[in-house]
Amino acid sequence: MRRPDDVRLRRAAGPGLRPKPALSLARALSKLGVCSRREAERWIAAGRVEVNGAVERSSGRWIDPARDRLVVDGRRVEDRTTRVVLALHKPEGVVTTRVDPGGRPTVYDALGDVGRLAPADAPAQPGWVFPVGRLDRDTSGLLILTNDHRLGERLTSPEHHVPKTYHARVRGLPDAEALRALREGLPLDDGKATRPARVRVLGTPRPRPGAPADPGSTWLEIVLTEGRNRQVRRMGAAVGHEVVELVRVRIGRLGLGDLAPGEWRELGPEEVERLVARPPGHCAYDGSLPWRP
Ligand code: URA
Repeated sequence: MRRPDDVRLRRAAGPGLRPKPALSLARALSKLGVCSRREAERWIAAGRVEVNGAVERSSGRWIDPARDRLVVDGRRVEDRTTRVVLALHKPEGVVTTRVDPGGRPTVYDALGDVGRLAPADAPAQPGWVFPVGRLDRDTSGLLILTNDHRLGERLTSPEHHVPKTYHARVRGLPDAEALRALREGLPLDDGKATRPARVRVLGTPRPRPGAPADPGSTWLEIVLTEGRNRQVRRMGAAVGHEVVELVRVRIGRLGLGDLAPGEWRELGPEEVERLVARPPGHCAYDGSLPWRP
């Protein structure tokens, strides 16, 4: 999980000693899959992190994860070389954060102890994992959690163009002009234009048994290669079609499959490849119908 540019060579302390790889404490915690670098900086400043038995409040302290003993909130952090990648079907109403100050349910509640426990405390479990990007509270669908920051960066960095496929139910029926704007890119409320997106109309919702038909909304499939905050909802608002239901059905070429809301599973190496593999023409569309619970 370590990249050459994350590692500085520390000068040997004396003749005959080999240089040791070292990295800053905050970066080490993030590389070890404990938390994000920014979160690590906060935890360190709050005195929650110990190095070799002493509280360390400097995020920039150089450490060698192979030799130095790191403890967070009393729990030992160890260098897991095993990559863990989980796919969660995030349900609606759940926030993508480790701890919600308002006490709302989080994606970690859906995982149970998995993802929260240090490997030393729970050797049979995948250890600490962090969510790759986030889904809004009211959005459901595929969320990846991993302890591998390089994978996280690969999936979220706009340079890699990993497509994320959403099924969005919008109010009304977008006309050709609205669809063209969504496809070609349009300025959002901050004035910055979106990248071109794949957009197609999937149809109108099937009436639920016993419920009246809903002629007033349309399912769209939207494939984005960027991940701005609440982007699909803001795109819908920008063309006058409020998004009333939103599901992320695919990342790269990995679909939600038959994971039920709240369920998760560990991904194998081939599935991880499908996450990052760039489909021909950068398009994740495979002709599937809108996913429905
Ligand atoms: N776009 C949104 O509006 N919300 C999400 O959660 C993801 C993409």
